[in-house]
Amino acid sequence: MSDRDLLDGTEPGPAGVRDLLARATELAAGAEPRTFRGASVGALFLNPSLRTRTSLESACAMLGVHPIVLQPGLGTWDLEFRDGVVMDGAYAEHAKEAIPVLSSFVDVLAVRSFAGLADRAADREDRVLASVRALSRVPVLNLESARWHPLQGLADQATWTRRFGDPRGKRIVLTWAPHPKALPQAVPNQVLLSAAMLGMDVVVAHPEGFDLEPDVMDRASTLASEAGGGVRVTHDPATRFDGAQVVYAKSWSGSSFYGRREEEASLREASSGWQVTGVPAGAGFMHCLPVRRNVVVSDAVLDGPSSWVQEQAAFRLWTVLAVLEAQLGGARWPSA
Ligand code: CP
Repeated sequence: MSDRDLLDGTEPGPAGVRDLLARATELAAGAEPRTFRGASVGALFLNPSLRTRTSLESACAMLGVHPIVLQPGLGTWDLEFRDGVVMDGAYAEHAKEAIPVLSSFVDVLAVRSFAGLADRAADREDRVLASVRALSRVPVLNLESARWHPLQGLADQATWTRRFGDPRGKRIVLTWAPHPKALPQAVPNQVLLSAAMLGMDVVVAHPEGFDLEPDVMDRASTLASEAGGGVRVTHDPATRFDGAQVVYAKSWSGSSFYGRREEEASLREASSGWQVTGVPAGAGFMHCLPVRRNVVVSDAVLDGPSSWVQEQAAFRLWTVLAVLEAQLGGARWPSA
């Protein structure tokens, strides 16, 4: 464990987040990054990625840092993270050996490990991330876990800050959207927390049954009220965008659907009307990407003038650069 871990994006505290956003903005405007010659970043990708992997590797190049990207099971040993299991199956090495060894070779250890959506307790505990955090000898960087996606959250916060100056009080509608598959809650959780931290007026819109975890909703409400904002829920697709200045679409699986996937699939199919086909005048459309066109959102919205998705994605580079500068530079987060 380190006082420079970035796990859910709240670790730097409000002042630290402001510092990171300011630094990301300077870097985007052409400021020279610091360099860390001889340093290396290890990145364990247990799931696929386009933006997170390429922005991490590009940031490493700009910092003079060597990125070591590992995909367990593809060229490195498949890793077991569960405690007390008989390892007579596919997993050749346990995290208890691998993570201390790996973290003795690198200066930051990053990991991507999505929710399995089979075991609610395991997903709520964010077991892989928690295990890496407990076993690592160097700062840990979450590249999207079962519950959180802090680098996405920082890029989103940078987008809101660029668009609004101070995002406090601006209305963001985080809307559930149709999708052919059940998806994890990490991104909607993160959007919720990131917007709440900045004091935005957050509306969470979803069909009945697709609730986010109650502890995440409670935490976001607390953060929002501390920052001068609020969080409320609507189940009405017709009025969900009323007053919205940002529409953020994402599909997710409801917390109550563990063990009831067939029921969820039929509810998802019946909710195709939640596709985003327009946003209020002046509002921006956001999505973390990748996005399924004409399922989640129409071509017209995604290709139109209200789409902020390219700007949002571009901030992924500048925000991970700012985070790695801070983690490699040895400064404690202001909140630590
Ligand atoms: N938004 C995001 O994290 O994209 P990737 O899954 O492609 O990294």
